[in-house]
Amino acid sequence: AGADHPHRPAIHFTPAQNWMNDPNGLIYHDGVYHLYFQYNPEGDRWGNMSWGHATSTDLMTWEEQPLALPYTDEEHVFSGGIVFDEHNTSGLGTAEDPPLVALYTSAYTDSSERPGIQAQSLAYSLDGGYTWERYEGNPVLDIGSGEFRDPKVFWYEEGGYWVMSAVVATERKVHFYRSDDLVEWEFLSDFGPAHAVGGVWEVPDLFELPVDGDPSDTRWVLVVNLNPGSVAGGSGAQYFVGDFDGTRFTPEHLLEPGPPDGEVLADFEDGYGDWEVVNDLDGTGGDGPFGTAPASGTLPGQQEVVGYEGDRLVNTFVGGDAPRGHATSPEFTIDRDFVNLLVGGGNKPRTGEGGHATVDLVVDGEVVRSATGGDTEHLDWVSWDVSDLAGRTARLRVEDDATGGWGHVLLDHVVLSDGPAAGLADYDWLDWGRDYYAAVSYNDTPDDARVTMAWMNNWQYAQDTPTSPWRGAMALPRQLELETVDGRPRLVQNPVDQLESLYGEPVYERDRTQVPASGLDLPPAEPGRPYQVELTLRPGGAGEIGLRVHEGADQATVVGYNTAAQELFLDRSASGDTGFHHAFTSRSAVPMALEDGGVRLRVVVDTSSVEVFAAGGRATLTDLVFPDPGATGISVRADGGGGSVEDVTVRPLGPDPSGA
Ligand code: FRU
Repeated sequence: AGADHPHRPAIHFTPAQNWMNDPNGLIYHDGVYHLYFQYNPEGDRWGNMSWGHATSTDLMTWEEQPLALPYTDEEHVFSGGIVFDEHNTSGLGTAEDPPLVALYTSAYTDSSERPGIQAQSLAYSLDGGYTWERYEGNPVLDIGSGEFRDPKVFWYEEGGYWVMSAVVATERKVHFYRSDDLVEWEFLSDFGPAHAVGGVWEVPDLFELPVDGDPSDTRWVLVVNLNPGSVAGGSGAQYFVGDFDGTRFTPEHLLEPGPPDGEVLADFEDGYGDWEVVNDLDGTGGDGPFGTAPASGTLPGQQEVVGYEGDRLVNTFVGGDAPRGHATSPEFTIDRDFVNLLVGGGNKPRTGEGGHATVDLVVDGEVVRSATGGDTEHLDWVSWDVSDLAGRTARLRVEDDATGGWGHVLLDHVVLSDGPAAGLADYDWLDWGRDYYAAVSYNDTPDDARVTMAWMNNWQYAQDTPTSPWRGAMALPRQLELETVDGRPRLVQNPVDQLESLYGEPVYERDRTQVPASGLDLPPAEPGRPYQVELTLRPGGAGEIGLRVHEGADQATVVGYNTAAQELFLDRSASGDTGFHHAFTSRSAVPMALEDGGVRLRVVVDTSSVEVFAAGGRATLTDLVFPDPGATGISVRADGGGGSVEDVTVRPLGPDPSGA
């Protein structure tokens, strides 16, 4: 590792060559952790889906094995799980030599007898997972769907049967099935749609965990991966905590998206409603030649300015000299505590360049609130607390500041209510960064530890990441636990303990240090060598304080805390090579209150990734980055003065690449 390409991670699994996506078939068996994965044996983009294979005894160092399940003319081998069929319930082994059984999705090709169908199939191994036979009676579960995939199976001890979860992706549903022999499957129930539904549901996982370490008080956790529509944009993983009674999963904390009952000010169901829409096509500030826009998205011969698309109001500004448009709502009285908007768009805020397309709340000619959507692919609720404006008369205005570049905002609903809307940031997420997808857990781990792996990537740009001759990496394996946070059980996640076996001697330790105005420089990293930074960031009077890693003259990845927004963020907008895809540049954030004035961070930095474990693992943020190999700087900076850091330890991870 490390030698063939500067972006090759040192402590994260990558295949020697070619494309990889989801982890599959995670199982600990005979002292070996198996990692199978979605793999293209013939290229560095998605296709020819097969199961690759790697093994490890410590979850940190991996040995790639020969291809486990190759695609055929009839089927591509999509994601799935593996169980150890100890009592040979399947009959595919013998009592003395019980099999490992893989349940995977057959994605049938046009040259098969089931073109376009996705169904669940079996393969088995009698040599501990190194070579695999397909079961002759495949598929074992076919519901006639083209979107039925990603089986994950476990032995349900209380009932004495196997349970499978699988998704019907486009319906945003998880289906549960039971079986006595892994071959015949009986439908139990389904779950969904719920919480985030701005994309398809994929790769489900259901498991039980003690709450606060008490084995007599357990909950079931259902992980549902989602693409796109995650909290940070694109692919991500949400989870639900609840009960599984052997038939049905019941979450104990379910939110209705959107505001509580309220007064709908606009829904755009029939066009603009009574909003005034003006497209200033001649740039004079008044009505352009088209005056009030037609009720269609694009104006003749022009880029879209203000338009109506589906049941949404759209404002896009394109190019420096393009005309601008705006839309204004009728006046209304602020007689409730919240104004809620369903908004999307906002490419420019992501890149930090150019102008802004915004939705503004205007009172007496002044903009008092302003919103932009986070993603062009999905809309999310924004809530403004307007209790300080009670009784005032207001308008909403959708506008572009026309200062160049690309601005885009979508507005779907406006609702006045007494409480805030539930949006993506209110749901439970495994990770709040951009690159943590297809998360799924190991079966049969020692001490029943719940260990997950995930593909460290995002379908938005996964095919374009600048690495060669491989493409795709796994995030660090994590151990999951349930801890009571703010009155209900939630997942806390930390790197598995085995990471400590890679610890080098600390190169920097400090109890407490003020951050000078010029910044606090820590010793630079060794080129190509991963490291871990543990520290507490204390903003004090600073508006923002941030740990900067992979820092060079013109680049850094920033893990920071913003005091006004009360959020922990991961900003890779100037992290090095960001230009290979327009959606790559990003700043992601998780809402988080300070504890005793600080936030404790554990940050693992590899050549092309940054993983943040915050507040003991209560929130995590994972991002890919592609910095210059020479960008080895590490520093802390605070703006506005007054920040400090506490209990800082920096140490290298893994072997010294120079061999010293
Ligand atoms: C998730 C996914 C799965 C599917 C696999 C195909 O990333 O789309 O739903 O089984 O990848 O490679």
